[in-house]
Amino acid sequence: MEGLKGFQENKTVETQIKRGRKEKAPYNTDLFRKENAIDLDPSYIFDAPGGPSISFKDIETLIPRVLEAHRMLKEEEGNILDNGIPMTGWQDLPEEITGAHLEDIKQVAAALSREIDVFVSIGIGGSYLGIEATFQALTHSYFNQLNREKRGGAPEIYFLGQNMDPDYFRDTLDMLEGKRVGINVISKSGTTTETAIAFRIMLKLLEDAWVKDASRFVIATTDKSKGALRALSDKKGFRTFPIPDNIGGRYSVLTDVGLVGLAMANIDIEEFTAGFRRMREITMADDVMANPALLHAAIRHAAWLKGKKIEVVAVNSRALYSVARWMEQLFPESEGHEGRGMWVSPTMYSEKLHSNGQMIQDGERNILETFLLLKEHDNRIEIPSMEGDTDGLNFLSDKGIDMNFVNRKVIEGPAYAHYKGGVPNMTIAIPRRNAFNLGQFYYMMERSAALSGYLLGHNPFIQPGVEAYKKAMFALIGKPGYEAKAKEMAEEIKMLGRIKHNGHCL
Ligand code: PA5
Repeated sequence: MEGLKGFQENKTVETQIKRGRKEKAPYNTDLFRKENAIDLDPSYIFDAPGGPSISFKDIETLIPRVLEAHRMLKEEEGNILDNGIPMTGWQDLPEEITGAHLEDIKQVAAALSREIDVFVSIGIGGSYLGIEATFQALTHSYFNQLNREKRGGAPEIYFLGQNMDPDYFRDTLDMLEGKRVGINVISKSGTTTETAIAFRIMLKLLEDAWVKDASRFVIATTDKSKGALRALSDKKGFRTFPIPDNIGGRYSVLTDVGLVGLAMANIDIEEFTAGFRRMREITMADDVMANPALLHAAIRHAAWLKGKKIEVVAVNSRALYSVARWMEQLFPESEGHEGRGMWVSPTMYSEKLHSNGQMIQDGERNILETFLLLKEHDNRIEIPSMEGDTDGLNFLSDKGIDMNFVNRKVIEGPAYAHYKGGVPNMTIAIPRRNAFNLGQFYYMMERSAALSGYLLGHNPFIQPGVEAYKKAMFALIGKPGYEAKAKEMAEEIKMLGRIKHNGHCL
């Protein structure tokens, strides 16, 4: 702590070191569960002034539909098939995962971890966001810059394949240079272009430049029997983890898709699973007011019916920002069908209060706001008193008010002000940063997103819209088999291109 006089050791680092020593939180006790209960506060949802508002009656009216959706989801009925398979395998997964399976993952992760300095997780969409969100939520903001001891013995962790930016890719390679690299390539279909390109480059580097027996340093998480990645894995002898047929990408964070990467970061995957299990138990209740997933789904649907087409998901924690990004995938990819759905906008406060905060307060009243409030941060930062009190803030130190207190008001202040400005909002309080709470939160959101599909009247487990861009991209990069599409597109693009940016018609 040299040079940081007055500051305590960083508790996030302490937690990482403890996890590295295999010290566990007592997550099975009643006290732990009580202290880690996720809470949904809908107080500011009802009767917001000045816009089409949501009344308590609106929610009451929806209750029979929400309960019916809940019943159908539990019974696996309705519009839930993808290629003939009901995509609801995530529902009972928390109960089905065995200790032996988690142990196997941990052992593979520990063995690879001992042999590498950096771990690269390659994937996109549901094969990326849940891992990154959980990693960011539970680790130090500058994890890779800490020494290995402070990372709890975990390797550095990087993500590739989520974009095709050559500069980002090249910069990431600089971070890997001279280090022993391990890879987990994740793709359920095994054919996603971005993932495949990133993996191809990384594999070539491993095989040609970095190590002799490259296959030992590659894990492939993919379909158990089909797809290009499965075929390649079998040929090269990669260690593989299967993705269940009945679980889609954005619902897959508790499958091996998420668990392998989390185990590499030393995150307690048993505690994570216990969080899912706990929320599954809670969200089986047939009572909208006692079941947070039902209440959440009812509020969001009522808001959508009242013209709220944007959901700002605002956080007071950098760690939770990526969890809001995970929601940005889960909900729009599940809801955005047939001209319906709500746009999710992940937002970090205070930062965005000084930019799009103006629009939230005063713009078009088509916004629902959801606050993810981290109740207890890992660290406490005191605010010092200053000679002369030039900024007038000495009252804070005089009253013993710390940064943590102010940061809570960064949610409570906007919640009040935005409500008064006509933005209905709810607060989901997450007690603290641990794997149990993340598991609970994910399960609650997965149920809510699935219920939303029933309420909107479409299948929340498919994403035909994502296929449209893939086909256009294949045609544009000249993929064999897409020649006719490429020709058709060229004609259309030529017509559209008649008007140039300078406004002159050609
Ligand atoms: O939720 C989904 O299904 C998608 O976001 C997929 O996860 C994403 O397209 C990646 O697909 P794959 O794992 O097949 O590469």
